[in-house]
Amino acid sequence: MRIVEQADRNGENPFEHKVDELPLLPGVVVKVMGLSYDSEQLFEDVLEVASEDPALAVRVLKMANSAMSSPVSPIDSLERAVARLGATHVAEFVTAAAVTRVFVPRSLGERNLWHHAVEVATACRLMVSQRPTKGADPGAAYLAGLLHDIGRLVMFDQSPEFIQAVDDLAWTTPGELVEAELRVVGADHANIGARVCEHWQVPPVTTRTVRDHHRDLSEGDPPMLAVVKQADWLSVAARAGGATAEPPGGRVTLPPAELEVIPRDFRFDEQELLSMIPAITEARRRASVALSLQPD
Ligand SMILES: [Fe+2]
Ligand SMILES: [Fe+2]
Repeated sequence: MRIVEQADRNGENPFEHKVDELPLLPGVVVKVMGLSYDSEQLFEDVLEVASEDPALAVRVLKMANSAMSSPVSPIDSLERAVARLGATHVAEFVTAAAVTRVFVPRSLGERNLWHHAVEVATACRLMVSQRPTKGADPGAAYLAGLLHDIGRLVMFDQSPEFIQAVDDLAWTTPGELVEAELRVVGADHANIGARVCEHWQVPPVTTRTVRDHHRDLSEGDPPMLAVVKQADWLSVAARAGGATAEPPGGRVTLPPAELEVIPRDFRFDEQELLSMIPAITEARRRASVALSLQPD
C-alpha cells in the first residue's frame, strides 16, 4: 500500500502534517534572502548577517582556517574570514548551513540529497551570473537550486524506507524519479517541496519554481524555472557519469528533449555546461567538509 493511501484512511496526509510541523525558516536565511549578490554592499551585509549568529560565525572562521583554504596566518576575525572566503561563498554557506539545521543530513541518502542540492544551487548561481536576467538574482537562483528537491527531504524524514523503495527503481532522469515516487509513494516531491516553500514564505517565484521543476516548460514560465531544470539535469548527468570535465575533451550527454524548448536566452550549450562542472564539483567538495556531509 502506498504511503498516501495509507494516510488518507486516517484522514490526513502525513507529508502535509510533516510540513506544518517544520520550524520556520531560520532568520539568518531570511536576511540572506534579502541580499543582492550584485550589490557593492554585499561584503558588509554578509558580515553583519553572519555575525548575528554566533554558531554560524564560528563555522565561517573554521572554514577560513581549514587546510583547504591554507591561510598564511591564522584568521581570527569574521571580517578577515569573509574577505578570505569571499562574500558570495559565505552567503551561500550561511544559507545552506541554516537549512541543514532544519533537515539534518544523517543518513547516506540525505547526505547525497544535500550534495545534489549544493551542485544544483551552484550551477543555478553560475547560470544567472553568466546570463543576467531581470528578476533572477544569483542569490535567489542559489536558493531556488538549494530548495528545489526539499520535498525529498520531507519524504526522507517521514519514511526513509519508501524513499529507498523509490531509489530501488533505479531512476536515471528527474522525470523517471517523479514517476517512481508516484508509483511507490503516491505523491511527488515537487508539490511537497512547494508546500515547504509556502510554509517558509520564500519569494513566490522560488515556490513556483520548486513546484514546477519537473513539469514541461511552457510560454510565460519564469527564467528561473529554465535555469533550475538545466542545473538539475547537469547535476544528475554528472552523477550518472553522463557529464565530465575530465580530459580528453570532456563531454556532456545530450540534454533531454524537454530542455530543447528552452528559449535561446536561457539555454546553455554543451561548452557552457562543461565549463560549470569544475565549479559544481568544487562546491560539492567544499560542502562535504563545511556541512559535515561525508563523501559518498
Ligand atoms: Fe526534483
Ligand atoms: Fe533535483
